[in-house]
Amino acid sequence: MSRRPRPDAATGGRAGNTILRAFVRNPREVGAVRRSSRTLGDALANTVRWPARGTVVEAGPGDGAVTESLVAAKPDGVRFLAVELNPACAKALKARLPEVHVVVDDLANLASICEREQAGRPEVVVATLPWSLLPRNRQLRLANAMLGALAPGGQLLFYIYAQALPFWRRSPFARIIASRFAKVEESPVIWKNLPPAIVVSCRGLR
Ligand SMILES: C[S@@+](CC[C@H](N)C(=O)[O-])C[C@H]1O[C@@H](n2cnc3c(N)ncnc32)[C@H](O)[C@@H]1O
Repeated sequence: MSRRPRPDAATGGRAGNTILRAFVRNPREVGAVRRSSRTLGDALANTVRWPARGTVVEAGPGDGAVTESLVAAKPDGVRFLAVELNPACAKALKARLPEVHVVVDDLANLASICEREQAGRPEVVVATLPWSLLPRNRQLRLANAMLGALAPGGQLLFYIYAQALPFWRRSPFARIIASRFAKVEESPVIWKNLPPAIVVSCRGLR
């Protein structure tokens, strides 16, 4: 993977402030006070079953902590689309990674976003939203939006903070995923992230 310097990768810095400020304004929607570590970003990027072509969507990129790992791992033939609800995060992401196409919109509109962008149905969605904090009906709406937009056989990935795992496993989001994907796999705990997290990979959408 080719890398640009990431002085604030683990400890915040200017980029970290974007997430903190967004959290203060909207804690439930942002769900984190700091950006993910490079280790967690790389773990997500390494878990993606990269297609040779087609579209990969990242939802909730924030200021680009995971995006950076994803675009470094992405094969040339794959189109990459970042969908971010928070305009301040989207602005910080564009400044940090100008080569990334950022759409300021709600993941709930994924099908219409892909249609508008002429992106086809995504093969992979990496959705780093604060799933455990979202109200039940919002979880269901967003899960259905992803399931409705993903290509058949597609992959969905996200992370859950380790301390939220028991709540997440009982959530409507977890139930709907278990019923629609052939395989749902949890990584070991990634300790090099604050807070520690696990990556969930869901494959074989039916
Ligand atoms: C926990 S932060 C993750 C940021 C970054 N991916 C990281 O790991 O450091 C969650 C992000 O999801 C965004 N978000 C929340 N709800 C969203 C939605 N419905 N559509 C798109 N983005 C959303 C928030 O604005 C925030 O940037």
